[in-house]
Amino acid sequence: MENRYGLVESMQLTVLVEDYAGYDSNLLAQHGISFLLEAKYEKGKKTILFDTGQSAQPVLHNMKMLGKDPDQIDLVFLSHCHSDHTGGLVGILGASSRSGIPVIGHPAIYRSNFGIKPDFQSFGIDPANSPEAVKQAGGEMVLTVDPLPLAPGILTTGELKERVGFEKSPTLTMLTIKEGRMVRDSMADDISLIFILKQGLVIVTGCSHAGVISIIETAIRMTGINHVAAVIGGFHLIDADEGRIKKTVEDLAVMSLDKIYTGHCSGLRAEAKLLDQFGSRFRKLRTGLTITF
Ligand SMILES: [Fe+2]
Ligand SMILES: [Fe+2]
Repeated sequence: MENRYGLVESMQLTVLVEDYAGYDSNLLAQHGISFLLEAKYEKGKKTILFDTGQSAQPVLHNMKMLGKDPDQIDLVFLSHCHSDHTGGLVGILGASSRSGIPVIGHPAIYRSNFGIKPDFQSFGIDPANSPEAVKQAGGEMVLTVDPLPLAPGILTTGELKERVGFEKSPTLTMLTIKEGRMVRDSMADDISLIFILKQGLVIVTGCSHAGVISIIETAIRMTGINHVAAVIGGFHLIDADEGRIKKTVEDLAVMSLDKIYTGHCSGLRAEAKLLDQFGSRFRKLRTGLTITF
């Protein structure tokens, strides 16, 4: 498979934290996402912390139980601003003895972001994870709109240039402040990670606020590879209407796609439809799950 980004030889994704811990688990669940992605090459390895959960303690507890060391982390990727993905940032960086760890995100990640249902509340990054605090904890914010190659066969989507029609606005009503006015927030900071393996693409998303179909189509367009080995992450369909869930499942069903791993904010209705459509090719995410390619 020829492509200009190179290939990851093999990889393992470990769910460090997720909303569900599974049956008979000694791990801690938390509303949020944190994955450890270990990409292996003939020579060397790249370890990426994908999102940081809502707080550091459960992530660090689970890492210990799973035999993972914060010192392994080469870089951190933040899928979007929401505190259930960014809350543990400074705490996890602080648990690593390394310094200058790049923390990749979108430049709009520090904007205000509010939800209005059921009550008005802030969803954005906690001030405890400011760029200054990140620096003090041994990290370095790297904020860019553009796609960024991180290692051979690993790249970020950057801000999505195109979203398919039914995904133009996020399912969840979110607001931000622009020039003193509360306006709808398009979640432009929602970015994902693409891994290129010989068996196809592995696409890792946070909440897919930009729309999971749009994210997959972007990854295919960017790499020129149209076979997807797996899409892994939250699809944020928990508050979507039936039409949007149906359309999402239908669009996934016609893709050249082997496996779907989702949970978090996808919601039971969407998960049930995905299970119906994909059978054993659908897996529910849970804390402690490891997926290898
Ligand atoms: Fe989330
Ligand atoms: Fe989110």
